[in-house]
Amino acid sequence: MNSERTSNPFHLNSKIALITGAASGIGLATVNVFLEAGIKGILLVDQTQEALDQALDNLSTEERSRCQGFVADVSSERNDYAARAVEIWGQLDIAVLNAGFCNEPAGIIETDAKIWDRIMQVNARGVFLGLQQCGKVMIERKFGSIIITSSQLGLQGSPSLSAYGASKWAVRGLALTAAEEFTPMGVRVNSVCPGPTVTPLIDNLKGGDGWSRMADLTLMKRLGQPREIANAILYLASDAASFCSGTTLKVDGGYAKFG
Ligand SMILES: NC(=O)c1ccc[n+]([C@@H]2O[C@H](COP(=O)([O-])OP(=O)(O)OC[C@H]3O[C@@H](n4cnc5c(N)ncnc54)[C@H](O)[C@@H]3O)[C@@H](O)[C@H]2O)c1
Repeated sequence: MNSERTSNPFHLNSKIALITGAASGIGLATVNVFLEAGIKGILLVDQTQEALDQALDNLSTEERSRCQGFVADVSSERNDYAARAVEIWGQLDIAVLNAGFCNEPAGIIETDAKIWDRIMQVNARGVFLGLQQCGKVMIERKFGSIIITSSQLGLQGSPSLSAYGASKWAVRGLALTAAEEFTPMGVRVNSVCPGPTVTPLIDNLKGGDGWSRMADLTLMKRLGQPREIANAILYLASDAASFCSGTTLKVDGGYAKFG
């Protein structure tokens, strides 16, 4: 027998995860990919009960038995979803800090500062609060993997999406800082940078030739599917990435030429 053979490191059999922004797009695809990888339990965190119920209703009875929903606005410290995961399952191994939104495109001069504030509250402050609460419970057990969803716009300029692009640079930077602080205490922190991916988030950019112009910017000349991003998140979440912390993983069809 080959002594190098161990159990499949991509399996999540004994693991508990939470995913923010889990009711739609990349978050929902990650729920499905984690379930297929045999995960023991997932806390789906999103803004409304209706969205969570809809996501849970599409799962099989067996899959549903491994999931729980939690309504939270990630920009508020009132919502301790990490503590809720521990209350239900007694542990938290994986946190995917993924909730975010994108504003209507407008130049810097035309962008209302209120839009800047709300984007920063959800996309950047939300991740900061998530790092605080998940870091705390994971460091206690000296084990965990945190994955932050940045963007290809966290690697380059984003004309007409200044606030969104800045928020994605912010969370990529936060991932690097958290990796430096948490890794010595057993918690890995990495980020993914998706390219344009077919989810409700880019619906507002669909008008005219919006989507085909975005597809043209990729080397693959197409948009990504949520599952293609979720597979990269699975890698970083799993023991297959046991030597990765502070990694920025681009999953963008070759979109971002820099970084
Ligand atoms: N779709 C893309 O092209 C793309 C590209 C790069 C990065 N991203 C990032 O991927 C992440 C997921 O986006 P998506 O494309 O799946 O979009 P989506 O709109 O399908 O999903 C985002 C989810 O986040 C939730 N959410 C938003 N604000 C929230 C809040 N304050 N509290 C809790 N939940 C909240 C929404 O309800 C929604 O379910 C986002 O961070 C986004 O910036 C997306």
